[in-house]
Amino acid sequence: MPRPRIHVTAPVPIEVDEALRRDFETSDSPEGVDGILAMLTTRVDGAYLDRAGPRLRVVANYAVGVNNVDLAAAAERNVVVANTPDVLTRATAELAVGLMLALLRRIAEGDRFVRRREEWLFSLEFMLGSSLRGKRLLVVGPGRIGRETAMLAEALGARPTFAGRDDDLHALLGEADIVSLHVPLTPETRHLVDAEALRAMSRSAVLVNTARGPIVDERALVDALRAGEIAGAALDVFEREPEVEEGLLVLENVVLTPHLGSATRDTRVAMGMLCVDALRAVLLEGRTPANAVGGPPAA
Ligand code: 8YV
Repeated sequence: MPRPRIHVTAPVPIEVDEALRRDFETSDSPEGVDGILAMLTTRVDGAYLDRAGPRLRVVANYAVGVNNVDLAAAAERNVVVANTPDVLTRATAELAVGLMLALLRRIAEGDRFVRRREEWLFSLEFMLGSSLRGKRLLVVGPGRIGRETAMLAEALGARPTFAGRDDDLHALLGEADIVSLHVPLTPETRHLVDAEALRAMSRSAVLVNTARGPIVDERALVDALRAGEIAGAALDVFEREPEVEEGLLVLENVVLTPHLGSATRDTRVAMGMLCVDALRAVLLEGRTPANAVGGPPAA
């Protein structure tokens, strides 16, 4: 029996590559393969799936977010889509809390200041920030990463509340010191944080986005920061990633990181192994993996 053929859309960690090669042939192109291991930078739409052809049975997305995959197009073609939940929850929550601290305690701003070799002497009123302790944290999206972020921030004294789909987001925004985004990118959440939402926030509040860039209207964010409508923002993801809105680059009350949410080695290997397991489940064991998006069909 020939081994199933897999196309991997970008290089993966060596451990993941070795695990893949134990059970599968790899192919440089998606044409004629049985499975695809896709990065979030690959747009897996109907045309891409058709390019792969009728043998294709599974797309394992190397991410928990599946906004790069047209799920309806996959379902129409009977292709299972799997993602990588749970294994990146802690890493992403750590980054969200790290960004909160970076903003509140002006860590990135201080780093830029020192690197500019500006003259300075310790003084009591210099570059004062504020503590996470006692801050009202609004977690937008009460899923796994949102809840983990709340738990970590609470350990540092923040007071978390959650905004879910049925809540009045704008009312909740007005009562938060920190707003942290943890919703998936869908047509409903695109520009969830627009000019109006930013105006609903308190002038002393900060925004943290470790979810997906297009959830925030980046131009409206620059305007709100310039006008002092909010106090700061930390972004790990961008609307037109990897492009970053020019206006953000010059603002001192902004912290920018290059999509590092799940960027620890252990996490990335664990994500890759989940993908390999999903490919194995479908192609070697003939079953729907537990991490199929939408879950396995009800028994
Ligand atoms: C991943 C992510 O690192 O999992 C996600 O949804 O956004 C990132 O944490 C990225 O997708 C790597 O492929």
